[in-house]
Amino acid sequence: MQIPARVLPRCTVTVPPAIEAKNLFKVFGRNPQAIVNRLRAGETREAVASAGTAAVIDASFTVQPGEIFVIMGLSGSGKSTVIRTLNGLLPPTAGEVRVQGQSVTSASPAELRRIRRASVSMVFQHFALLPHLSVLDNAAYALEIQGVGKSERRARAREILDKVGLGDRVEATPDELSGGMRQRVGLARALTAGTDILLMDEAFSALDPLIRREMQEQLVELQSELGRTIVFITHDLNEAMFLGDRIAVMRDGRIVQTGTPEEILTDPANDYVAQFVQDVDRARVLTAGSVMAPPAAATPLSAGVRGALRVMRDLQVGSVAVLEGRRYLGSVSDRAVVRAVKAGSTDLRSLISTAQPVVSPNDPLTEVVERAVESPIPIAVVDDQRRLLGTIPRVTLLAALGNVDPQTTEIPIIGAPSSVPQAELMSSLVAVGEPAGRPATGRGA
Ligand SMILES: Nc1ncnc2c1ncn2[C@@H]1O[C@H](COP(=O)(O)OP(=O)(O)OP(=O)(O)O)[C@@H](O)[C@H]1O
Ligand SMILES: [Mg+2]
Repeated sequence: MQIPARVLPRCTVTVPPAIEAKNLFKVFGRNPQAIVNRLRAGETREAVASAGTAAVIDASFTVQPGEIFVIMGLSGSGKSTVIRTLNGLLPPTAGEVRVQGQSVTSASPAELRRIRRASVSMVFQHFALLPHLSVLDNAAYALEIQGVGKSERRARAREILDKVGLGDRVEATPDELSGGMRQRVGLARALTAGTDILLMDEAFSALDPLIRREMQEQLVELQSELGRTIVFITHDLNEAMFLGDRIAVMRDGRIVQTGTPEEILTDPANDYVAQFVQDVDRARVLTAGSVMAPPAAATPLSAGVRGALRVMRDLQVGSVAVLEGRRYLGSVSDRAVVRAVKAGSTDLRSLISTAQPVVSPNDPLTEVVERAVESPIPIAVVDDQRRLLGTIPRVTLLAALGNVDPQTTEIPIIGAPSSVPQAELMSSLVAVGEPAGRPATGRGA
């Protein structure tokens, strides 16, 4: 019977994760399964070492389409072994890998070949370029294996080579290129293959720092342009932080933490991760939004000088943000307000310093620091409609940049302490009509 299309139940199309790894074990040894059983029973990697090498122990993670997922860890922690199980290059001893919903672990050799051809390509640290082929044909090589005709594969390779900045070197042979250029040909080859998923094992580690940085930026750009899913291995934390949407940290075969760069930096799961992140360039990773405090010391413009003074007295801070509706107008300092009151002025708007820096939540701390140096007043974090989202006092900034332990260091989260003696603040309040003995309540807007 033909069912009219309208009557069919509406179904939501759910895209399966790009990659799912479930409880993966990879053990090298004579009786790997027995070793897996011992590990499952709680024995350590060291305890089973005499029987075999537990390269990967109970690793689980999911990579969503379009994500850059970084696997990071010291040498020997099991990163390469994990990534090789993802495209079936290595069968796991236990556990399962799924690529776009299809099991790699139970795939037949023919299915595996299809997955590798159509879905997953891999870039190694030292990928062998074919020395007798031009840059163009090297980049087109994966398509040649896929049986794509010469003119089409060359056209597609040319397009990608343009993107990686080698458009003018297509006729060169690999020996005429620098190491960095060769690495880019390798990347172009993987990109030209057109697979949704790219596995990159230490793909940039042979590059000198400047070219490496350039490649990282190019990869992020290409990724957002082409929307590929990337699993990237590195033992360089700065690289991991720069590239990763999420990062899995491996130690001795286990994944000890998975999280966004910010989560890993600000909330390391254990000492090992903490040690790893100690020397990362925090300013490049952390954003204004991740360190800001809620905007506690704020007052509506309509509350006038009196309102501003009251908030500063109650919260004992040296400055207050002035709002009109939710719009941030700027901040006034206690000094400026007290001075104005002495001079008989009660116009709050005229006291707002116009040169005050504001930042957006996505600004990296590097930028915030530059501005904070010039400003004694906490930096305001505003959205694109200038609504006040939070503030960053200088001390918070320093704590975020240094490895200051917030548990043991007192960090005033509201703002710099008042620089005007309390008595002077009180007499100003009295001068604008505030009863002197009023208890400290309220926190402004
Ligand atoms: N084919 C193999 N046979 C035996 N042991 C192996 C094999 N491949 C890897 N191992 C062992 O498994 C462990 C993890 O190796 P792996 O190559 O995955 O580490 P890695 O994190 O990639 O290290 P690196 O940063 O040095 O590349 C190591 O102890 C290694 O010696
Ligand atoms: Mg490796």
